[in-house]
Amino acid sequence: MGNAEFRADRHPSESYEDILERDTRTIPDHLRQGPTRNLGEEGIPVTNYFDPTFFHKEVRHVWLKVWQWACREEDIPNAGDVFVYENVGKSLIVSRQKDGSIKAFYNSCLHRGRKLVDECGHRSTFRCKYHGLAWDSDGSFKHNPIKWDFPQFEGKDMSLPEVRVETWGGFVFINFDPAAKPLMHYLKPLADHFDRYDFANRYKAAHVSKIVPCNWKVMAEAFMESHHTIVTHPQLAPFLGDVNSQYDALSDYVTRQFTATGVVSPTLADRNFGDIDILKAMEAAGGSHVSGGHSDKDGVSKKVNNARDTPDAPMTLEQGVTARMYACEVTRKSLGDEDGWDYSQVSDAEIIDALLYNVFPHMSFWAGYAPNVVYRWRPNGLDPDTSIMDVIILKRVPKQGPRPKPVTEHRLGLGEDWSSSPMIGALGPVFEQDMENLPEVQTGLKSSGTGVVHFSLYSEMRIRLMHKLIAQMIAEGEAKVGV
Ligand SMILES: [Fe+2]
Repeated sequence: MGNAEFRADRHPSESYEDILERDTRTIPDHLRQGPTRNLGEEGIPVTNYFDPTFFHKEVRHVWLKVWQWACREEDIPNAGDVFVYENVGKSLIVSRQKDGSIKAFYNSCLHRGRKLVDECGHRSTFRCKYHGLAWDSDGSFKHNPIKWDFPQFEGKDMSLPEVRVETWGGFVFINFDPAAKPLMHYLKPLADHFDRYDFANRYKAAHVSKIVPCNWKVMAEAFMESHHTIVTHPQLAPFLGDVNSQYDALSDYVTRQFTATGVVSPTLADRNFGDIDILKAMEAAGGSHVSGGHSDKDGVSKKVNNARDTPDAPMTLEQGVTARMYACEVTRKSLGDEDGWDYSQVSDAEIIDALLYNVFPHMSFWAGYAPNVVYRWRPNGLDPDTSIMDVIILKRVPKQGPRPKPVTEHRLGLGEDWSSSPMIGALGPVFEQDMENLPEVQTGLKSSGTGVVHFSLYSEMRIRLMHKLIAQMIAEGEAKVGV
């Protein structure tokens, strides 16, 4: 795949690094520009998004091999708490043990295969509702009410088969592959960068999910570049460095995109937008997924209103204060007011920018100190044409405690808008704009006259890398099984 650093042409406007240079606090090293990859210009077959044979290979050689977060540790705080995690047609029981550790078992009775646990909750015993065979929450066999008729079980290990479990940042990860390398092999550059954000001491303030009629990659790709904003989210352009975002490939598995907030899009360069125009646009957007106020219901509106003496008065900024500086300062204050932590020395970027890290193949974690958005995309069961998106918002546990209880997942119905969930506030309308594209992409792919899609060299490098890795895993997996 080649690790040599490569510098593709960038948008001719100022770079994300140029914007950082004007910022008001010390810039942490990990936010500096990282490596890129030259992954070529080849088209990618459209069949990768809907062909059942390709999907089957993807399940076998990718989904059953990769680490994936199943839940948060806070979802199963006490011994006997269970979380049912399902993906690609497989169901798992993620179970908190008496010693505080976490195990995950295939959710399937060893007798006739019925799921042992139907839903999340508390189960000190996993008793099958079909014939009553039962296991302890550590997976050891407990009871068979029809034991007399099963000589084949005598003297056999009847423990529930386990899958690998590891944790990071308060997330519980599972891996179906017993031979998988440790989680940190895949996560490392991200884990190093996120040390300062201490995700273990954040709590799940929002969790909304939805089934969307498109392949899981179509959905993931909608959140892996910022230049769709120009057309899909035009309301964001007055305060978003969209086409001049920074994209880095930190490893094969960890990539990221940095998009500045509080600066005007280079695509509006001829419009002479001033700082007040930027603030007004932020106010009109009511906060967004690209602002420090992204999870705050009142969002940027409330903050921008602070630039006025009264709600109806014209906005003003002190001499030398830019919209970005102003938005950062009010966000620092509102975050501190909310959780009691001191944000006075935190860099502007970590307060207000969209700092999205992705972990192959399907997870995205926002860095920084504002409430952190976490995305997860995965197939909807074994259907290549539909997928599930989860959106989580993590907030910092208040300095004086106590640790707030995490919310439970709110699954939106097919006809329900993201906006209908108050949990994600101003993110909702932006997601709706994204979602309008996705079913049309899925059907459009099937109508392709060329048979391929194209990715741009730099801004869509991360998407191309995802496809390269999938192709590589499938090729290696197929070679092993001798197909
Ligand atoms: Fe979007």
